[in-house]
Amino acid sequence: MKKIAVLVSGGGTNLQAILDAQASGIIKSGKVCCVISSSPNAFALERAKNAGVPGECVRRKDYESVQAFDEALLNTLEKYNADIIVLAGFLCILGESIIRAYPNKIINVHPSLIPSFCGDGFYGLMVHEKALEYGVKVTGATVHFVNEITDGGAIILQKAVNILPEDDAESLQKRVMKEAEHIILPQAVELLCADKIKVDGRKVEIIA
Ligand code: GRF
Repeated sequence: MKKIAVLVSGGGTNLQAILDAQASGIIKSGKVCCVISSSPNAFALERAKNAGVPGECVRRKDYESVQAFDEALLNTLEKYNADIIVLAGFLCILGESIIRAYPNKIINVHPSLIPSFCGDGFYGLMVHEKALEYGVKVTGATVHFVNEITDGGAIILQKAVNILPEDDAESLQKRVMKEAEHIILPQAVELLCADKIKVDGRKVEIIA
């Protein structure tokens, strides 16, 4: 059983999808060992508490430098012996020391089909506003490995969502979460925990 640390900053619907997938057996090769939030007010911490999972808060503003923040995160991850790290709406950028400490063991979920509508500054509602503004007919979600480039690591899973004529950014955000993020994130977590993901540079192979 792999120990999974989930890093959050907000509502935690993706965390909930992981906890539900664990309860229903979709995730069977790992277990959430801790939830680390960058904000003390994140509702995700309530979700952790309700599931009986330890919650921790590590705030960027409590540390002088990115390096010191990273060290605090690393210490927390080590405290729980985390094997894999899932960024589920975590709004801080991870520093090099963490990325180096967990090679191909950190994944993130992004609410678009990368490489569209991603990179620095693309988070929250804005991702969907930009997709609507551009006029794309299909968007979706991506789960990818985390490297030093924002949303730049190798892609593990993607799922498309059709844009409807009546969509606004809010309705699109909700549908992308429900129809894509909450499905592919737990799937990717199980694949990673079960050692079924083979990575070679940008090439990712799912082992059947
Ligand atoms: C999701 O859209 C996720 O793709 C992005 O941040 C949002 C987090 O939502 N990285 P939640 O906290 O999981 O509800």
